[in-house]
Amino acid sequence: MNNTMKAVVLEKPTKGSEVKLSDIPIPKVKPGWVLVKIRAFGMNHSEAILREFEIESDYIQKPVIPGIECVGEIADPSDSGWKKGQKAAALMGGMGRSFNGSYAEYALLPVHHVFPVESSLSWEKMAAVPETYFTAWGSLFQSLRLTCDDVLLVRGATCALGYVAIQLAKTSGCRVVGTSHRESKLKLLEAAGCDECILDEGSLQGKVSGLTKALELIGIKTLKDTMMCVEEGAIVCNTGVLGKVYEWDHFDPIKDIPNGVFLTGFYSNYPDENTMRDIFRFLDEHELSPLVGKVYDFKNITEACEALDEGKVKGKIVVRI
Ligand SMILES: NC(=O)c1ccc[n+]([C@@H]2O[C@H](COP(=O)([O-])OP(=O)(O)OC[C@H]3O[C@@H](n4cnc5c(N)ncnc54)[C@H](OP(=O)(O)O)[C@@H]3O)[C@@H](O)[C@H]2O)c1
Repeated sequence: MNNTMKAVVLEKPTKGSEVKLSDIPIPKVKPGWVLVKIRAFGMNHSEAILREFEIESDYIQKPVIPGIECVGEIADPSDSGWKKGQKAAALMGGMGRSFNGSYAEYALLPVHHVFPVESSLSWEKMAAVPETYFTAWGSLFQSLRLTCDDVLLVRGATCALGYVAIQLAKTSGCRVVGTSHRESKLKLLEAAGCDECILDEGSLQGKVSGLTKALELIGIKTLKDTMMCVEEGAIVCNTGVLGKVYEWDHFDPIKDIPNGVFLTGFYSNYPDENTMRDIFRFLDEHELSPLVGKVYDFKNITEACEALDEGKVKGKIVVRI
């Protein structure tokens, strides 16, 4: 094995157009960590946030290889009990933030955030799954307790997570209402399976009724309005921050949460093996193809990062190594 690998290494706020590949040593294994040969990785809005400003926070290792998820094969199992060559998916737990992540040919990852994958999907399709499907799955089935009788609002649905939430919710048999802040994108939501598509001009009050569950992907910017739109007894899950408001100043739960409405959230930092297995099994059983917006080769990582920053791709960006 060659001793060096290609990777994206960041030290400071970096625009997509400034991202480049460097040659650095392949990391050496240590107890409790496994070396993964990365075959493909999905890109996420949070990586654009990392490059934009989060990298200046104390909890970000610097320099850092970004990337919160990947799929690949075990190159060195260390003391884990994994077999060399086994297929795996990894995500979160500090990946690409407090330790080096997936924008690289190899990643040294803590064994408790690496999960076995038994799947015949291509690497590109498999790479679309870990973070986006885990977050959609957890938001819908753990936090929102979604059932087939629900009417679900996906607010800010034209992101990778939104399209996947629509796919999972429709497969589960419920009615789905999707919103976009762009009229031109409503037809994409219809094509994705939404029963009703609404232009979001800041307030949805009076535009929608009968909602029993709501997945808020714009975040705090529209959360209060979402809570005002749902039925009594409904659950609202705040998962996204597309609206770029990250903290809720002067939040007063007594006045801000309507009586009889339940507010929850979902944080994808704690994936587990059973859930990951359930997700791949669900995709297989329902013959669902993981949703991929566009695949880039690793050598074109600059273009992929620019596309992420500019919201150019409809859905999940996957990078193939
Ligand atoms: N809680 C968690 O643990 C967790 C986990 C994963 C993701 N997330 C969050 O979930 C959201 C979606 O993530 P993702 O990776 O799927 O995103 P993404 O695919 O990178 O989404 C970006 C797209 O969102 C669209 N968008 C829709 N409404 C928007 C608005 N009001 N403002 C700006 N953009 C808007 C933009 O397209 P148009 O403007 O053209 O519609 C843009 O192309 C993000 O906020 C992310 O941070 C949270």
